[in-house]
Amino acid sequence: MRHQNSFYITTPIYYVNDVPHIGHAYTTIAADVLARYWRLSGRDVFFLTGLDEHGQKVQQAAAKAGIDPQAHCDKLAPQFQTLWKRLNISNDAFIRTTDAPHKSIVQRYLEELHSKQLIYKDDYTGWYCTFDERFWTEKDVVDSLCPDCRRPVERISEHNYFFKMGQYQDRLIDHIREHPNFIRPESRRNEVLGFLTTQKLGDLSISRPKSRLSWGIELPFDKDYVTYVWFDALVNYVSALEYLRPTPSREQYWPASVHLVGKDILTTHAVYWSTMLMALNLPLPDTIFAHGWWTVDGEKMSKSRGNVVDPNKMADEFGADAFRYFLFREVPFGQDGDFSQSAMVTNINSDLANGIGNLLSRTLTMIERFAGGTIPAAGTPALPELEALIAATATGLPERIDQGYRALAFRENLQAIWELIGLCDEYIDKAAPWQLAKNPENRPRLNTVLNTASRALRLLSVLMYPYMPQTAAHLTRQLGLSFDFSKPVPQAAYNWETPLAETKICKGPGLFPRIESKPQGAKTVSDATTPPQPTTAIPTAPTAAPPTPAPAAPAAPAQITIDEFMKIQLKTAKVISAERVPKSEKLLKLQVSLGEGAEQRQIVAGIGKKYEPEALIGKTIIIVANLKPAKLMGIESQGMVLAAGDSEVRGLATILEEVDPGTKVK
Ligand code: MSP
Repeated sequence: MRHQNSFYITTPIYYVNDVPHIGHAYTTIAADVLARYWRLSGRDVFFLTGLDEHGQKVQQAAAKAGIDPQAHCDKLAPQFQTLWKRLNISNDAFIRTTDAPHKSIVQRYLEELHSKQLIYKDDYTGWYCTFDERFWTEKDVVDSLCPDCRRPVERISEHNYFFKMGQYQDRLIDHIREHPNFIRPESRRNEVLGFLTTQKLGDLSISRPKSRLSWGIELPFDKDYVTYVWFDALVNYVSALEYLRPTPSREQYWPASVHLVGKDILTTHAVYWSTMLMALNLPLPDTIFAHGWWTVDGEKMSKSRGNVVDPNKMADEFGADAFRYFLFREVPFGQDGDFSQSAMVTNINSDLANGIGNLLSRTLTMIERFAGGTIPAAGTPALPELEALIAATATGLPERIDQGYRALAFRENLQAIWELIGLCDEYIDKAAPWQLAKNPENRPRLNTVLNTASRALRLLSVLMYPYMPQTAAHLTRQLGLSFDFSKPVPQAAYNWETPLAETKICKGPGLFPRIESKPQGAKTVSDATTPPQPTTAIPTAPTAAPPTPAPAAPAAPAQITIDEFMKIQLKTAKVISAERVPKSEKLLKLQVSLGEGAEQRQIVAGIGKKYEPEALIGKTIIIVANLKPAKLMGIESQGMVLAAGDSEVRGLATILEEVDPGTKVK
């Protein structure tokens, strides 16, 4: 039996009939999140994924490519392996069913069942679906079409070998009833129980005549047959334990803790595999979890529709972590979901760039500005109620998240983590450290704010790690912490009370660039070439519409008189607060002061690509003070800031010496 501290997680092994797509990536990332979480918690994890290389689908794909099936598999296998590296998949082993040891283990099991007379030869006539590689009975088939994939079926009559699956029907029903976690989610469990309790479970044809299919593992007791691809494939979960670990490890890892599968292959796992294990006298896995399917922009994903989502592209365009995050934030695990790039972009901008990215950068900027770059020890409470709420939330989070992982509630876990981010944002906004920093008497309160935010970020890094390993590493590095995520993280990192102070931070680049939408609906990362956006608040050189076809040199700006210049009222102003304008990557909303007793102004400026809002707080800038107010994205702007640059801002204009806000500039 599996050691108490072991955790064995598997993905389906994927057919090598085509390149990997989002469906493959989804299950594999889910398994990776679990593997990383349990390793971090100190469990001995074995995470297996791999390829299903035999069977008709692969044989046909190879024939189509005009190459030998093995050569075809060898050609495609690296595409999966490379993708898993690209997506930071931490699998411990990669099985290929054409591995020689796997083949001989499958033959050993076939031999065992044959000698126990659990496999027998019989005539069989039925409707065969080549695509699904299975027979259907008369009553299943409607209009000569496969009830599963709606492709035409063929009437086939042949001798075959059968596994006595039917005799395990009652035992399987009892097992499912007695183990509520065996098939998940609940709705799928009910589905399986539903058909097992209402239909007679037949025996399973586990052979294919070589005359029809040659690409498979030969039956050890009849050289004219190969084994059915599912008998071969399912065995991977135990054969890997015999030859892909340095030591024999069946006793250490079997039964599997979780088999992750898509909903379409639940029956093969819950019924075929379970009864095979019963026949082989092996214990059944703890959990078979069936997740839902992704559609793409509301449509079924298919090659013919040309809408297959390539995970490589997603990782290239948005980053592996952002893709990983989106898959689990968007849809509850177990349900179907719709993938759209626009939803992903919205999600990345709101939760990653504005959420965790902004929290980290504003916290670090404030530590640099107000605490010399070192996280200060907490002083006196700044906002006791909110601090108590943050403490209570943070203290409860590790347990809540642990329960979430046990329930495979990936989305709920992310929601719980993001609750803490939201609380921290609210806390910083309300505590307004930039105001506290003005008065030395407030230093103890200021320190508490900086310390609380830093401790929250420390916890967030650990909690986020399974989903976004690279982000977690950047986060801890910038916070000046030295977590080694490849080892179990000490309990102290989860503990809200663990002190954190006198750590020198190391502010680096933002965690997530904001992504802007191209007008056609295609998306691009913001530092790629994008059409210029209105730069309203930034003075830009006048541009003339270029005469076609060659671009003309910009017309020289018209000269103005001194009187005309004197009409423009330029003044220094101090930035009191700054925040991003929602849904805009360029606009920041600033509150600026024009001096003691003077008015405060709100200015909307297009400098958000160049500056994080926090970086501006306390800075003295130059504004055009007598510009007629205008609305930008519905927000009133009472003036304009001066900055160098053309359509792209290079730097804000400021004053060399310390001068009071409201001073005239000329
Ligand atoms: N080789 C078998 C599995 C054998 S396991 C012992 C197989 N391979 S597969 O490559 O066709 O599919 C692998 C997985 O991809 C399945 O779990 C399936 O549910 C999943 N998906 C395929 N398309 C999908 C989506 N559109 N969305 C989510 N997952 C999908 O079946």
